[in-house]
Amino acid sequence: MPRRLGPLLLIAAAALAAACDRDSAAADEILDQIERDDFRNSYERAPRWDRRLRTEASPHGYWIDIYVNETMSDAIAAGVPIDAWPQDSLVVAEGWTTEDDEGREFLLVMAKSDPATNAWSWYEWRGEDDLIYAAPEVSQCVRCHEAGEDLVRSFELPPIIDP
Ligand code: HEC
Repeated sequence: MPRRLGPLLLIAAAALAAACDRDSAAADEILDQIERDDFRNSYERAPRWDRRLRTEASPHGYWIDIYVNETMSDAIAAGVPIDAWPQDSLVVAEGWTTEDDEGREFLLVMAKSDPATNAWSWYEWRGEDDLIYAAPEVSQCVRCHEAGEDLVRSFELPPIIDP
């Protein structure tokens, strides 16, 4: 390999890796879906996360609202033991600088939208809709979320005691 090609290839590989982490068509679809659903008013709050809370554990910022879609709230209400969240599960986390801020800092979504794998896809936007990540496997997210049951950190799989 000519000596100058090495760094160029590295740059190309890095650009490709970044592009792989950002499927903007999938991200638009997810953002449309949660906005159409009017998630703040129609989704349930995550168990024990009934309002905007601040956690020391989180790398995600100071104040967070967490919502689960109907697939997940139904599974929580049913209370039947499962070892993974079902297909079409979706969690939204909105991050804020203060407890009563109205302009969000970031938006995170985990969604099981691929029936072939039943795996989470990971999404992050800064502010309203500035896309950072959108991919089925984002190592930056997974390496830390691995500590949770089925990769969810703020609550466990059903049956959830005292949700
Ligand atoms: C260093 C650890 C860490 C990393 C990295 C991380 N998270 Fe989290 N995440 C957490 C913790 C801890 C919580 C629980 C809520 C809290 O404490 O703020 C959480 C909560 C969430 C939630 C709410 C559902 C849940 O699992 O509790 C979503 C959605 C989420 N993160 C998405 C992401 C995405 C997308 C990425 C990558 C872009 C990511 N996270 C990277 C630690 C992490």
